[in-house]
Amino acid sequence: MISSKEVLEKARNENYAVPAFNIHNLENFQVVVESSAELRSPVIIAATPGTVKYAGAEFLIKMAEASIQKYKIPIILHLDHFVDKEEIKSLIRLGFGSVMIDASMEEYEKNIIISHEVSDYAHNFNATVEAELGKLGGREEHIEVKDDEVFLTNPDYVCDFINRTNIDSLAVAIGTAHGLYKNKPKLDFERLKTINKKVNIPLVLHGASDLPDDDVIKCIEYGINKVNIATELKVPFSKAVRKYLVDHPDESDPRNYMTPGKEAMRDIVIKKIKLCGSEGKF
Ligand code: 13P
Ligand code: ZN
Ligand code: NA
Repeated sequence: MISSKEVLEKARNENYAVPAFNIHNLENFQVVVESSAELRSPVIIAATPGTVKYAGAEFLIKMAEASIQKYKIPIILHLDHFVDKEEIKSLIRLGFGSVMIDASMEEYEKNIIISHEVSDYAHNFNATVEAELGKLGGREEHIEVKDDEVFLTNPDYVCDFINRTNIDSLAVAIGTAHGLYKNKPKLDFERLKTINKKVNIPLVLHGASDLPDDDVIKCIEYGINKVNIATELKVPFSKAVRKYLVDHPDESDPRNYMTPGKEAMRDIVIKKIKLCGSEGKF
């Protein structure tokens, strides 16, 4: 089975993106791996600190191992938006092979020190590290960034940042935000193009839910190799479960009321894999 590094590097060489789906429970996990297997797509399963706490790190690792064994496609279990480097280190020791250290809220030099420490540690375990330069808007679980705190990635700093942190992939802020958009998002494609010309590691797009398909396609064309999707899965899943429970007020069997949620989520997962261009890559 190819490593997380190779999965993103293959995407970079062949100009597509690997979708990274945030999951929260068994049902989400199943839908993501089943759909990816059906479409022969590599996939990243992203777990935030809240998800690791909720689902249990050991269970997530075992589910990923079982999925890889069953489906024989690259399934990468990834820690998303982790801020505590000691927590990341202990999860790497436990078996996580792909992590994001999010020190984007720190000032530049501190972001470098923290990201570098994590990447040094991770590489001893053959784990790969994503870090963020710039600051994305919106809310992702424990991290909320107000509109006036957002700042886009400065292309003049990306080479210095990558060289000094030794990270494996870079999350960029080019105008996307976590969650749904209050106003139509305006992405800075020129900035992305400039960054892409300067770097030779995979670039990551956070906040991809609720973006027009054309914007995602352009981002991939201009150098994005990992597309993070959370909200667009959560919303239809909950909507479908809610509707089922309202329509069946006496239902108490999770296998029955979770199923419509899974089906609603499956449609989006399939759509996003196709959008990323990762279908049939394995
Ligand atoms: P969305 O919720 O906008 O899809 O953002 C997901 C994300 O960036 C996870 O890290
Ligand atoms: Zn994110
Ligand atoms: Na979003």
